[in-house]
Amino acid sequence: MVAESTASPREQAAASFDALYADLHPIGRDPATGGYHRFVYADEELTLREWFTGEARARGLDVHEDRGGNIWAWWGDPADGDAVGTGSHLDSVPQGGPYDGPLGVVSALGAVDLLRSRGVQPRRPLGLVAFADEEGGRFGVACSGSRILTGALSRERALGLTDEDGVSYGEALRRTGRDPESIGRDDEVLGALGTFVELHVEQGRGLIEHDAPLGLYTMIRPHGRYRFDLLGRADHAGATRIQDRDDPMLTQAELVLAARRAAERHGAVATVGRVLVEPNGINAIPSRVRAWLDTRADEEATVRAIVAEVRDAIGVEPFEEMWTARVDLDLDLMERLDGVLGGIPRLPSGAGHDAGIMATAGVPTAMILVRNPTGVSHSPDEHAERDDCVEGVVRLADVLEDLLR
Ligand code: GLV
Ligand code: MN
Ligand code: MN
Repeated sequence: MVAESTASPREQAAASFDALYADLHPIGRDPATGGYHRFVYADEELTLREWFTGEARARGLDVHEDRGGNIWAWWGDPADGDAVGTGSHLDSVPQGGPYDGPLGVVSALGAVDLLRSRGVQPRRPLGLVAFADEEGGRFGVACSGSRILTGALSRERALGLTDEDGVSYGEALRRTGRDPESIGRDDEVLGALGTFVELHVEQGRGLIEHDAPLGLYTMIRPHGRYRFDLLGRADHAGATRIQDRDDPMLTQAELVLAARRAAERHGAVATVGRVLVEPNGINAIPSRVRAWLDTRADEEATVRAIVAEVRDAIGVEPFEEMWTARVDLDLDLMERLDGVLGGIPRLPSGAGHDAGIMATAGVPTAMILVRNPTGVSHSPDEHAERDDCVEGVVRLADVLEDLLR
């Protein structure tokens, strides 16, 4: 929606923001908890894709899906090159919050409304993007859409990934009418981009401490996801003597404690947030436990050291399902944004982002973050105040106006 031109920029941004979020709010929401379930290519995420496409078309933008399954809405012709990209993702973790991802997409659409009402005529093409699968909640590899787009995730590896129900990435594409064979690095889109800016809700407490509504990310911490397959022998929970058991749940317990100790020793973080137990019966000793370790630190060597320490503690070799190198965001672009935004706080990001994948692919990239007063994310408690979100829309429009000159 484009608000009346007599309204102030904040009023216009607020009107766009409210209208866009009102439509988004119910999609994939668990009424019992307020959390969101929006896995890539599942019904909820497909509805969100339709929503984004509809909003973009209503603004006269040219909508196109790239070979990674990411949706781009173009103002201007990307073939002209040196385009500015902005946006974020619409998928969520299980029981995710309302802002992680959608805030950047809503803000991009709201910023276009504002630029239009200011009469801005872009000298560079502008591409609004809704990335597929930033969280990797369904198939395990975060940012699979941007990784496929940039070639960081090969078609062969992507198509072989499976979800918890055994549905492959390829099958999920097929079921939604996409051709699995057509996915892969997309040089047309990648080559068109000269700059990328992602706006995202903060996922920690940095801006609370700075008492500031907006900030800039300087870097994205390196991040690994590892699967441990812990094998034992299924048996009876009542009849099997303790000394006769081969129980992989004991190794699982050691894994969790070893990860915590290693993370504390290194001043880093490690999480075991997903465990699958087979056969998962109260009165059966498990035959297999699969556990996923997510660990991150400032330096890549620290992440590697933590994984090695956990491996040595339990004597089981992990399988690396995902590796994301450290990303230092573009300093020149950061300075340029700072010139527009006026000296806002700079912070590192503990969370991963598609912006990091774009930066690694060589696109000069920056990130704007919006204060989260709970400091909580990947949870229904994630929050952002409307005033801060509106400030984000206005300031993103300011940044885009400067970049599009
Ligand atoms: C995504 O938010 C991640 O950092 O896991
Ligand atoms: Mn996110
Ligand atoms: Mn997230």
